[in-house]
Amino acid sequence: MSKTKIAPSLLAADFGNLQRDIEMVNESDADWHHIDIMDGVFVPNISYGMPVVKTIAKHATKPLDVHLMIVDPDRYIKTFAELGATHLTVHYEACTHLHRTIQAIKAEGMKAGVALNPHTNVNLLKNVIKDLDIALIMSVNPGFGGQSFIENTYEKIHNLKELIKESDAPTLIEVDGGVNSKNAKALIKAGADALVAGSFIFNTEDPKQTISELKKSTDRWSIFEL
Ligand code: DX5
Ligand code: ZN
Repeated sequence: MSKTKIAPSLLAADFGNLQRDIEMVNESDADWHHIDIMDGVFVPNISYGMPVVKTIAKHATKPLDVHLMIVDPDRYIKTFAELGATHLTVHYEACTHLHRTIQAIKAEGMKAGVALNPHTNVNLLKNVIKDLDIALIMSVNPGFGGQSFIENTYEKIHNLKELIKESDAPTLIEVDGGVNSKNAKALIKAGADALVAGSFIFNTEDPKQTISELKKSTDRWSIFEL
């Protein structure tokens, strides 16, 4: 049984000590560095851009899980590949030719992901699910860290898992927004494979310890086999 992936969101890092926080993630039990790119158009907020991603890539030793919350993401696929992204996730709501976008991401040698806003039905992924490495379910409205988890996420994960099984697709389910120690286990039970957490990790005294506890508490072996 594959292990749950934990992806700390660097949006909640201390940007005055970015190298320190990236190194903390390197040394921790985390699996991916989650990188949120916001353009102030698709979402109301602007996060950070290429020079910051370049710095993250320079110090990071784990896969770079890049989440694009931008309009017309096709414009930047090549740029993120060159910057060292290993996973590139675009929003369903931001893509007119989603199938083409997914193929373009793969053509650059990256894993392809599609994110769904809380109001977007998971069945809309039916015709591309076999091509997807990652389906990211937003459990908050994208744009900000530190928001409250939306409860209908469990049902969406469950339905998406059914779709993945029916289609015999290789897709991992990633959940992003308001993830913490209270909902993590239930998210894995519902069918999630990867959890993004920002404020829950970085707002604690010992983020490395928090990551380790999150990783242990979501160990699929202990959840499903004991
Ligand atoms: C929200 C971003 C998230 C965010 C999560 O739009 O996609 O990755 O950093 O932050 P928390 O875990 O604080 O909800
Ligand atoms: Zn994100």
